[in-house]
Amino acid sequence: MTIQWFPGHMTRARRQIQEKLSLIDVVIELLDARLPLSSRNPMIDEILLNKPRLILLNKSDLADPAVTREWVDYFKREGHTAITADASTGQGVKDIPLKAKELIKEKIDRQISKGIRPRAVRALIVGIPNVGKSTLINRLAGRSIAATGDRPGVTKGQQWIKVGTEMELLDTPGILWPKFEDQNVGYRLAATGAIKEEILNVEDIAFFAIKYLCQYYWTQLQERFDLGERPEDLENPDGVVAVMEAIGRKRGCIVSGGRVDLEKASGIMLRELRAGKLGRFSMESPY
Ligand code: G4P
Repeated sequence: MTIQWFPGHMTRARRQIQEKLSLIDVVIELLDARLPLSSRNPMIDEILLNKPRLILLNKSDLADPAVTREWVDYFKREGHTAITADASTGQGVKDIPLKAKELIKEKIDRQISKGIRPRAVRALIVGIPNVGKSTLINRLAGRSIAATGDRPGVTKGQQWIKVGTEMELLDTPGILWPKFEDQNVGYRLAATGAIKEEILNVEDIAFFAIKYLCQYYWTQLQERFDLGERPEDLENPDGVVAVMEAIGRKRGCIVSGGRVDLEKASGIMLRELRAGKLGRFSMESPY
């Protein structure tokens, strides 16, 4: 479900997360590995108030592995611990409790030196809608936890989920809003399916994605849709539209007069892109 974020929602979402901060030791911030900055909440540092944080680049199965490695380095340089995961299959998920524990190692050591037996690390998952929060919670829990729902403002009694003996997780994730100011961020989020198409024009989203893919992942695009030559000048919209038309013809999106139905072609292309049919790709890189 895509949320319409209004200032009231944002304030409430922020307050709900901040209310939980006193209960937890570590925040697990979920980002989409294909677009870590665009899928990041713009106020995250202010919201989390220096709480130890593990950055989890989720959906790494869909992202370009070389670019994901660059992102892990980027976050390290920013002073964070970042790891990659694929919550849908569980790859990387088993490392989470240990990494979370490492983040509060000093606190644990202090407790041990005082003769206190440390309890399990308490964690909260936060992230924008569709980034994989529920999937990850279910994966960590090893079972299906009641639907958490992307409904800011809807609260329910929260419970701790045991993840082995090392970690306890709040069953309700913190839902954050994405960045809205930059239109390219919106296009990246829409191209990957993080926000629903209705918010932006489907042809504009496909145009943005195709232009990007022509530049960075031409071979994947060409092979998937059996295309000819890459447009020479990507700043000329005609070249990108010609690629969209070629994709439409390939998928039989022809209307009367032999014209290509660009709206239909755009929808098909984006569905295939999101389903990983064009192979792995990243929508932004740190360098
Ligand atoms: P949310 O709670 O943050 O809103 O996200 P949620 O877990 O509902 O996940 C959103 C979509 O992303 C789901 O797909 C889910 O299966 C998929 N997903 C989550 N993590 C990963 C991952 O690491 N890799 C891949 N490839 N997909 C992931 P969906 O199509 O909306 O639902 P479904 O068809 O899986 O039921």
